[in-house]
Amino acid sequence: MKILGIETSCDDTSVALYDSDRGIVENLVSSQADLHHHFGGVVPELASRAHLVNLLPLVDLVFKRQNLQLQQLDGVAVTAGPGLIGALLVGLSTAKAICFAGRLPIVGIHHIEGHILANALAAPLVLPAVVLVVSGGHTEVIHVRGVGRYERLGGTLDDAAGEAFDKSAKLLGLPYPGGPELDRWAGRGRPGRFHFPRALARDPRCVFSFSGLKTAVRLVVEDLPKPLQDQDVADVCCEVQEAITDVLVDRLFEAARHRQVGAVYLAGGVAANSRLRARTTEEAARQGLHFVPLEPIYCTDNAAMIAYAGWCHFVAGHQDDLTLDSFARAALTSWR
Ligand code: KG4
Ligand code: ZN
Repeated sequence: MKILGIETSCDDTSVALYDSDRGIVENLVSSQADLHHHFGGVVPELASRAHLVNLLPLVDLVFKRQNLQLQQLDGVAVTAGPGLIGALLVGLSTAKAICFAGRLPIVGIHHIEGHILANALAAPLVLPAVVLVVSGGHTEVIHVRGVGRYERLGGTLDDAAGEAFDKSAKLLGLPYPGGPELDRWAGRGRPGRFHFPRALARDPRCVFSFSGLKTAVRLVVEDLPKPLQDQDVADVCCEVQEAITDVLVDRLFEAARHRQVGAVYLAGGVAANSRLRARTTEEAARQGLHFVPLEPIYCTDNAAMIAYAGWCHFVAGHQDDLTLDSFARAALTSWR
């Protein structure tokens, strides 16, 4: 089966092709980072317009590179939500047009399900598992028993982990998108010079809170001599990253213990973070749990995960029709 995947939920335009005999054969991502850089964050209207400009050329490129005809496709999978509604609509309308023209089945994918199932692109999932979904808009712990069998164990009460990285990076004057920048700077930092809060550390619930972290970072940054010296920036980054990964790793393994699963996974853009990957690898080895870090390209937004999730749904007999709508917000467990 050949499934075309389309992802336009935020600021990356992506088109991929999943071939069930060969795996992911295309995964093109056109980043809008340069466009939003100037504003220090994603501007929704600009994102929609950039998707409009970028999406069809990417679709064309996939067809050309694979020497593919519309009739050779078996279906189209598209992110239906959650995300920026205008941005999602560009992907959804394009997917519908392709399906209408080629009389192809369409399936809408929940963005978070895409991130979770991306882990199966590396190796078959070991299930049941606990998955930590950490991105710019989400921080959730999900118990996964199979495709479509998800239970939300907990999540953030305020900011997402990606937001905590991005806002801290912004306070330090690092360019957008801040998460990967902060990761790079942290590598040169000296541990132990600052201490940032681990909110709700003793809370028995599976919950996170990152809103206090940015205030703590702001206070530290205000106290530092200006202009900020590189070593100061690196030292703050190192401890911010440590504070965020500490709570993420703690809650992930606590949930795994509670549910007695044999495997843990990371998903979403923050899963690309070098320290989070290293800490999760160490802790999984210590506890005898299965964990394979995903290639960073499959952590951040990409259409490969959407094409693959679409294939899983088509195989299970699920599909939508051309009345499929996009949605800005809806939990993975309550959508559909
Ligand atoms: O999944 P994603 O690409 O988009 C959303 O669905 O939100 O996640 C983007 C988030 C951003 O907050 C970005 O800063 C963060 O993931 N991110 C990272 C790293 N790479 C991406 N955060 C920390 N370290 C990284 N290496
Ligand atoms: Zn995402």
